[in-house]
Amino acid sequence: LSDGPLKGKHILVTSGPTHEPIDPVRYIANRSSGAQGTAIGAALAALGADVTFVTGPADVLPPQGVDVIKVQTAAQMLDAVQSAPAADAAVFAAAVADWRVANAGDSKIKKDGSGLPTLEFAENPDILATVSQMTVGRPKLVVGFAAETDDVIANATAKRLRKGCDWIVANDVSPNTGIMGGKENAVTLISDAGAENWPRMGKEAVATALAKRIAEALA
Ligand code: C5P
Repeated sequence: LSDGPLKGKHILVTSGPTHEPIDPVRYIANRSSGAQGTAIGAALAALGADVTFVTGPADVLPPQGVDVIKVQTAAQMLDAVQSAPAADAAVFAAAVADWRVANAGDSKIKKDGSGLPTLEFAENPDILATVSQMTVGRPKLVVGFAAETDDVIANATAKRLRKGCDWIVANDVSPNTGIMGGKENAVTLISDAGAENWPRMGKEAVATALAKRIAEALA
């Protein structure tokens, strides 16, 4: 597609929310639009990368020029990530559901007068941590996201160490920032070199800046 600095590199991106079924017609979801992940996929492809783009049911269309794998659940997202070709870098921008419904029904739960249904939950796999801690075939650069409302840098720094990823892109999603669901983002890039505050800018500009940094790191 493009002859940029990421030519010949394979990069895996996860994006969007996941949907966790309650029964065949109902599900649990979150408010991720997929906008930031889609912008990152597009920015990486624009620099010449071969991008595998694993996306949950997002509001926005996937980027052009990437290999799109559509999934619904966190378990399917992990499967898709583990089945993808070996990657030089991986960017985990998806808002993966923390829990799935353990007692999801194969047929529609009926309002039949026998009382209210009770949902039981099971913890979903942590895809970012799983890939970060791979002993064979781990991408050279693993990038996670941290959406926080308090103590953004401290929490994101701890998250980086706990999950074992190389970089965390941290942002403050407090309601007064207008970032969640908005067009702009103000992020801090956390690596072993410390925390670097980026100015507030459009999500496309964040994606372009991040893609350039990834190209430098893989060069
Ligand atoms: O722990 P938390 O959900 O805040 O971590 C956010 C980061 O971890 C994001 O990069 C997200 O894509 C990733 N994640 C994941 N699998 C999960 C939960 C989070 O890949 N089950």
